[in-house]
Amino acid sequence: MGILVTNWLARTPRLRALVSSPNRVPSFLRTVTNMSTIPGGARLLQAIEAPLTRSATFLVLAVKPGQDSLDTIRSTLSGVEGLAKNVAIRDLSNSFNCTIGIGSNIWDDLTKLTRPPELHPLPILKGSVHATVSTPGDLLFHIRSNRRDICFEFERQLLGQLGPSVSVIDSTIGFRYFDARDLLGFVDGTANPVGADALDAAVITADTTTPTNNGGSYVVVQKYLHNLSTWSALKTEDQESIIGRTKLDNVELDDAPEGQQRSHKTLTTIEDEASGGEYSIVRDNMPFGSPAAGEYGTYFIGYSKKLWVVERMLENMFVGDPPGKHDRILDFSTAVTGTTFFVPSAEVLAGLGEEVC
Ligand code: HEM
Repeated sequence: MGILVTNWLARTPRLRALVSSPNRVPSFLRTVTNMSTIPGGARLLQAIEAPLTRSATFLVLAVKPGQDSLDTIRSTLSGVEGLAKNVAIRDLSNSFNCTIGIGSNIWDDLTKLTRPPELHPLPILKGSVHATVSTPGDLLFHIRSNRRDICFEFERQLLGQLGPSVSVIDSTIGFRYFDARDLLGFVDGTANPVGADALDAAVITADTTTPTNNGGSYVVVQKYLHNLSTWSALKTEDQESIIGRTKLDNVELDDAPEGQQRSHKTLTTIEDEASGGEYSIVRDNMPFGSPAAGEYGTYFIGYSKKLWVVERMLENMFVGDPPGKHDRILDFSTAVTGTTFFVPSAEVLAGLGEEVC
C-alpha cells in the first residue's frame, strides 16, 4: 500500500500538502498515509479503505451535562491515540482503526471552535410514504478491526475512561457477511471511491475561512431494520431492479429512463451538472442483527466533505426523484436512527485537551 499511496499523493498536490504534516491528517485516514503505526505495523486509527474489516462497533454516546463531563471527554479524546495503542499492540498482525465524530449539539461547548459550516442535526426528509428520523448523538466512535475482541476491548477501555460523563445511546455490532454482502443479499460498497478519490470525496482540504475544518469530514449514520420475509418473497429480478445491480455477480444495471421508477444505485448518484462528474461519498455499511431476535439490519455510514451530498442522496431516496417515486429499498427497510457528526482532524482532536474551559 505504501507504493500506491506515494504514487497518488505525487499526483495530488493539495493532498500532498495536507499529509506533509501528520497531525493535519484526519484520524480515520492516518493509516492510509502510513503515518500512524506502531511497531509491527499495526494500525492505530481508522483508515478510509478499511471496509474489509470483519467486525465493527458503531458507538453513539450522549454527553451528560456539566463542566466535569466536558473536561473528562476533552481529556479522553485528546489522548485517544494512546488508548488505541494500548489495544492495538495486543495483536501486531491485526488492523485496528477508530474514527471519532462530534455531534452538532455539543460541538460549541466541547470544542470551543468555529462550527463546521454545514454541521446541523440530520433533517427530517418526508416523502409521501417514508421519512428519515433524526435521533440524538453527541459522540460517534466507529471502531473497526478484523478481530471482534479488539473492538470489544477498545470500547471497554474507552467507556471506562469516559465513565459517568456519557451515557450510551446506541452500540451496534456490525459483521462482514460473506463477500461483503448486506442482509438483503447484495454486495454492498462496490461503487465506493478508493485511494486519492476517496480522500477527495471525504476530506475537507481547502477551507480558508475556518482552517480547523481542514482534514475533517462530515459523517452520517443510520440504522436500518429489514423486513426479510417480504424482501425474500420478491423475485430476484425485482430485487435487482430495486438495487440497480445483479445479485449473484454484482453487475450494474442500466439506469431507468427519466421520470420512471429509479433504482437505489441511480437515486444515490449525484451528478455535478456543470462538470458532468459525480459527487461521491465513502461508505462502510455493515450488517448487524440476531436471527434469534428476528432482527436483520444494515448500519449505514457515509463520510463526505460536503454534507449536502449525503442529504441530497437521502432526499432522493425518501422523497423520490421524481418526487413520489421513492427508493423501493425503503419498502423493506426502516430507518430507526439518523445522526450527523463532524470528524475533526487528528490535530484538532489532540488539541482538545488544551482547551481553556
Ligand atoms: C438499507 C440501507 C442500505 C442498503 C442495504 C444499501 C445497499 C446498497 C447496495 C447493495 C449498493 C450497490 C453496490 C454499491 O455500489 O455499493 C448501494 C449503492 C450505493 N448506496 Fe446504498 N444502501 C443503503 C443505504 C444507503 C444510504 C442511506 C445512502 C446515502 C445516503 C446510500 C448511498 C449509496 C451510494 C452512493 C451507492 C453507490 C451508487 C453508485 O453506483 O454510484 N445507500 N447501496
